[in-house]
Amino acid sequence: MVNALKHLAIIMDGNGRWAKQKGKIRTQGHKKGAKTIKEITTWCAKNNIAYLTLYAFSTENWNRPKSEVDFLMKLLEKYLIDEKKTYLQNNIRFKTIGNIEIFNQPLRRTIESLETETASNTALTQILALNYGSKDEIARACEKIITTNAYAKNPDMPQLIEAHLDTKGIPDVDLLIRTGGEMRLSNFLLWQASYAELFFSPILWPDFRADDLANIIEDFKSRKRRFGGL
Ligand code: IPE
Ligand code: IPE
Ligand code: MG
Repeated sequence: MVNALKHLAIIMDGNGRWAKQKGKIRTQGHKKGAKTIKEITTWCAKNNIAYLTLYAFSTENWNRPKSEVDFLMKLLEKYLIDEKKTYLQNNIRFKTIGNIEIFNQPLRRTIESLETETASNTALTQILALNYGSKDEIARACEKIITTNAYAKNPDMPQLIEAHLDTKGIPDVDLLIRTGGEMRLSNFLLWQASYAELFFSPILWPDFRADDLANIIEDFKSRKRRFGGL
């Protein structure tokens, strides 16, 4: 039996190094990386993957220079506007995780309207992690449990946490890939990837192609997942 792949998650890392290698400024790496997002997402929609979660901006990425943060926010807004047709043509539903309340109004409106317009699409759900950090997500879930008094009604804490995460209703991660060669999770889906198969690729995100993903998935299919059993 080969492993089923319902939920693929990717830490898209290496944009800055890609640009540096090419003698370009870091923002050029982010632009090229956005093209990879489109390629990988449409490939997933055509290859029977139900959920694709992409780490686009972490709660720690605010520590970067303001000019880079501003560029990333503008690039995100432009991407969502320009690629609306890609979501619609490929039957892709768009969702986000992370706390987007602090984003500016135009960006939030763009996010919310794309979510609404793609809500009934069924080929793939693409989830962008925006101002996302696992610790922040779990802390927000706990706050909701406390403020709504949910524990008094249902004292099953793991189930309650699951139900209050940004990913509620989405199956756990089966395969987690990080490009760019670093071997860490950087505060990404710590709860949801508890039993994910991990794969670290040395390829920088702008150079990562659908073929590279297909090869990793082949490897994933034959791994033995035990979930603590035998
Ligand atoms: C990933 O690429 C994109 C974001 C974190 C927004 P980086 O910008 O982290 O690229 P490197 O790791 O510096 O090469
Ligand atoms: C992780 O990459 C975050 C995203 C890909 C959005 P970083 O480049 O921010 O991670 P660190 O700082 O190397 O751990
Ligand atoms: Mg990085």
